[in-house]
Order: sequence, then C-alpha cells, then structure tokens
Amino acid sequence: MRRVSLTQYLVEQQRKQGIVSAELRLLIEVVARACKSISNAISKGALAGVLGGAGSDNIQGEAQKKLDVIANDVLVEANEWGGHLAAMASEEMDLPLSIPNRYPKGEYLLVYDPLDGSSNIDVNVSVGTIFSVLRCPEGVVEPDEKAFLQAGSKQVAAGFAVYGPATILVLTVGNGTVGFTLDREMGSWIMTEEKIEIPVDTKEFAINMSNARNWTPPIKRYIDECIAGSTGPRGKDFNMRWVASMVADVYRILSRGGVFMYPVDAKHTGGRLRLLYEANPMAFIVEQAGGAAINGPQRIMDVQPEKLHQRQGVILGSKNEVELVGRYYSESK
Ligand code: AHG
Ligand code: MN
Ligand code: MN
Repeated sequence: MRRVSLTQYLVEQQRKQGIVSAELRLLIEVVARACKSISNAISKGALAGVLGGAGSDNIQGEAQKKLDVIANDVLVEANEWGGHLAAMASEEMDLPLSIPNRYPKGEYLLVYDPLDGSSNIDVNVSVGTIFSVLRCPEGVVEPDEKAFLQAGSKQVAAGFAVYGPATILVLTVGNGTVGFTLDREMGSWIMTEEKIEIPVDTKEFAINMSNARNWTPPIKRYIDECIAGSTGPRGKDFNMRWVASMVADVYRILSRGGVFMYPVDAKHTGGRLRLLYEANPMAFIVEQAGGAAINGPQRIMDVQPEKLHQRQGVILGSKNEVELVGRYYSESK
C-alpha cells in the first residue's frame, strides 16, 4: 500500500486547482503538528503532572482542566508566528486573539476547541481537538468577534484529532473527508482512510439519557421508537453508545454509522455544544462524508452565528436517521 502523508495529501489537493492554497496547507500542517504535541502530553498522563484541574474557569463558567489550558497554549504558540492567520479564537479564550504585530498576518481565521471531552481526561477515556478554518472578511485588518460570525457553510476546512488507542486526525477541505493515523515512531500523519463514508442507515444512537425528562417531543418520539426496538414502529433493535467526548462519538459514527444528538432541551435551552468550534466543524466533516447535521428544524451549517461562544442543538450522523429526526421536528410544529 502507498503510504500517503498528510503533507503529500495537502500538496495533491493544492495541485487540484483552487482546493488548498499554500497558506491553508501551512495552517493545516501547523494545527496537525500542534495536535501531535497535545497527543504526547496526554499520553504521559500523571507522569507529566498534566491531570486535574487548572483552578480557573473559562468564559462559559466551566472549570478548566490543566490540559484544557496546555492544549490551548500549544495551539496559540504554534499558530501565531507562521503568517497564515489573521486571528484565532478558542473555547478557552474569552475573546479572539489577534496575531501580534511583530508577525505577518495571513488571510485565515482559526477557531478551535483545544480539548474536547475534558471530563474524560482524568479517567483515561479518549479526548480530542476540534478546529474550523474561515476566511478573514475582506478589508478587515484587526479581526474582532464579528469577523468570526460566519455560517458554517463558509468554512474552508475543518478537522478533529482524537487521542484514543491510536491518535487519529480527520480532515475535510471541502473535497470529501479523509482520516490519518499518527505514526509515533516516524512522527508523521499517514492516511489510513482515503474517503470516509457514513452508512446512511444505522441501528445505533448516542444521546445523554440522563437528560430524558427535559427532551422536547420530537427527540422523545425518536428515542422512544428506537428503544421500542423490533416490536416498535422501527421494526429493528437499536444499540446505544455515549462516550461523552464528541470527538470519539463522531469518529465512531464516521466509522460505522449512527446518530449523535445533543439537542436543545428544557435544561439546555440553546443547546449544549458550541456552534463555531464544535457543531460547525463536525457538521462540515459529517456532510462531506455523506451524512447530515441539523440543529432540529434547520441545517447546522446554515445557521448565522450571533456570538463567538454561542451554543447550538446538534443532531448528526447517518443521513436517513437525521432526516427522520428532522421530519419529527417539522411534524411537531
Ligand atoms: P468540552 O470538554 O470541550 O467542554 O466538550 C464536552 C462536550 C462533548 O464533547 C460531549 O459530547 C458533551 O460535552 C458531553 O456532555 P455530557 O457531560 O452532558 O455528557
Ligand atoms: Mn468540546
Ligand atoms: Mn473543550
């Protein structure tokens, strides 16, 4: 089998006119390199003293773990000097970070969740990093929050790393979804999935069942029907999985299908996951793999963001299943 590295893949995409610019290629390589370093820190665990709380809160009032802060710093340091970014924004930073004046500025905006699944760090369950790339709006020299408020359909690239038994990088530049595995000895990302395709049907759903009493009628209806199994209206038995790390749940769905849901409910009235650095990049990746991603009534990538850290309902995965949930939303109006 031909070993295709991430660099080689990106160069090939660059040669196919208009798909990846030299600057975007640099950006993706820099983020991927930062993910290697985060993967390394995570794999050392208690030996490197990286577990536990940081003793601070982020803007959303969530207690930061040491690794949330470490991963954020790694991504900032890796991305600020290369000349490929105009600004970056993160779950762990209140406001966007402009590129310091001593460095050249590029045409892209990077927005990321440095460590997804933080509650799983201390219990040795997979966590990850999610990122989305936007273009800096024309004429904007000092990008502020407003520059980032672009619909997901404007993304030029998105990806996530999952630090699991193997460290994997999933990427889309708008030309399908591809997967790379980190070869630790060589220190390089090697393509292991050339064209990820999510099966359109599934018998597996992922939702935090402890929120059941707060669900809206369409979600309750969908899950009740799944649970009713072969004797219910679906006529087949379903299985349930919930890792509580979106990266791991989405990777499973990319691998064998399924539907992942963190919908708007009576407790999470605006949703739980963040639009710009969780919902949008995952929606882009999933759609590019033949799946679908909605917030309930609407396609996620059509949502016009109003705030940098705004939340969103998320239902994504196998196309037929997501469409069925969408139908239940329109029928419950
Ligand atoms: P983060 O660690 O970046 O705050 O994100 C955690 C998210 C997501 O990864 C996961 O699907 C969800 O929160 C888990 O929520 P519950 O704790 O409600 O299960
Ligand atoms: Mn997250
Ligand atoms: Mn996070």
